[in-house]
Amino acid sequence: MKLLHVVGARPNFMKVGPVIHALRSHTELTQVLVHTGQHYDANMSDIFFTQLGLPAPDINLEIGSGSHAVQTAQTMIAFEKVVLEHRPDWVLVYGDVNSTVAVTLVCAKLGIRVAHVEAGLRSFDRTMPEEINRLITDQIADLLLTPSADGDQNLLREGIAPEKIRLVGNVMIDTLVRLRPQAEAHWPALQQQFGLARYGLITLHRPSNVDEPAMLRQILTTLNEIAADLPLLFPIHPRTRQRIQGQGLADLAGRIQFCDPLGYLEFLALQAHATIVLTDSGGVQEETTYLQVPCLTLRENTERPVTVDVGSNTLVGHDMAKLRHEVARTLQGDAKQGAIPPLWDGRAGERIAQIITQHKRAL
Ligand code: UD1
Ligand code: UDP
Repeated sequence: MKLLHVVGARPNFMKVGPVIHALRSHTELTQVLVHTGQHYDANMSDIFFTQLGLPAPDINLEIGSGSHAVQTAQTMIAFEKVVLEHRPDWVLVYGDVNSTVAVTLVCAKLGIRVAHVEAGLRSFDRTMPEEINRLITDQIADLLLTPSADGDQNLLREGIAPEKIRLVGNVMIDTLVRLRPQAEAHWPALQQQFGLARYGLITLHRPSNVDEPAMLRQILTTLNEIAADLPLLFPIHPRTRQRIQGQGLADLAGRIQFCDPLGYLEFLALQAHATIVLTDSGGVQEETTYLQVPCLTLRENTERPVTVDVGSNTLVGHDMAKLRHEVARTLQGDAKQGAIPPLWDGRAGERIAQIITQHKRAL
């Protein structure tokens, strides 16, 4: 039996690792790793293959950046050739990026079975490109592997047959659990490099925050005010760097310490030791929940409600007064407490491996 895993962007790499590792003991399987090349900078791609112990991609489609249509269409054209050559029994896709939906569309038309890892998440906000990717992928994939029970409910409500849905838990947390000791080893050097004692950690890259100059200006101004009370470190996503430079907004954020995107181990260590994390990232909402570190999410909604209902995440939306208030609350020692959601236990990859191999036997 042959499996193709397809990844493309930074958050995919933490999700594919546990599944590849768990399937390695099934020696009757051939696993092929395809990288679409959606992310390509060394610090957005290569570093994760090294740090997460991933095999080098067998195939790189080298799609690169482009508009949504260009990126999706070019991935479809390139991936169709790969899938026709390899004729896999299963294609596994991850998360909600353009690579995910493009590959799923190709497979659905060719009658190749697709398993979607991290299925069922919904922000109910169709202005988010990822929400469109999630809706389409889940409608046409064959096996929907969900990280939390809300995912199952969303899929059932959309009319997906219950036998296609399996609650497996959160693969991203598998990677965190496995690599946390290695991440911790980076902490003393990071502390020294960035001169950290008490600090907040920032990530922002959603178009709704960074592509609107007025919004980005407002956010940077508020973060700069917060940085007067709490040192802030901001490893900056390439999209965000371009927007700040393009709009000439760097002067608004003179108190904030910026750096290039960091490796997984370094970023995990920085999350674990942060007083608070300010983000719009999906994965970071989950990781802070697992680490039980207070997280403020600069979005009006989240496709990961369990991080708010159970975890340490608070949605502040675009309400800058609320952002300031919640940071102040944390600094006064009154941060939101959270718990770890069910099945975020480091074993989701094993559960996925078991399901995929069972499906092989049933067919
Ligand atoms: C993509 C995903 C988003 C995910 C994010 C993770 C889609 C629609 N969006 O957003 O869901 O949260 O990745 O980080 O799939 N760039 C570089 N170097 C790179 C990659 C990108 O400089 O290695 C720059 C390019 O100018 C590019 C821009 O960043 O145009 C945006 O990249 P893109 O992959 O289109 O979207 P992201 O914002 O990264
Ligand atoms: N991350 C990282 N280095 C950074 C910022 C984030 O390794 O400088 C990791 C983070 O720990 C998480 C993942 O990237 O594992 C989240 O990806 P991202 O925020 O790019 O995408 P999203 O989850 O929002 O789709």
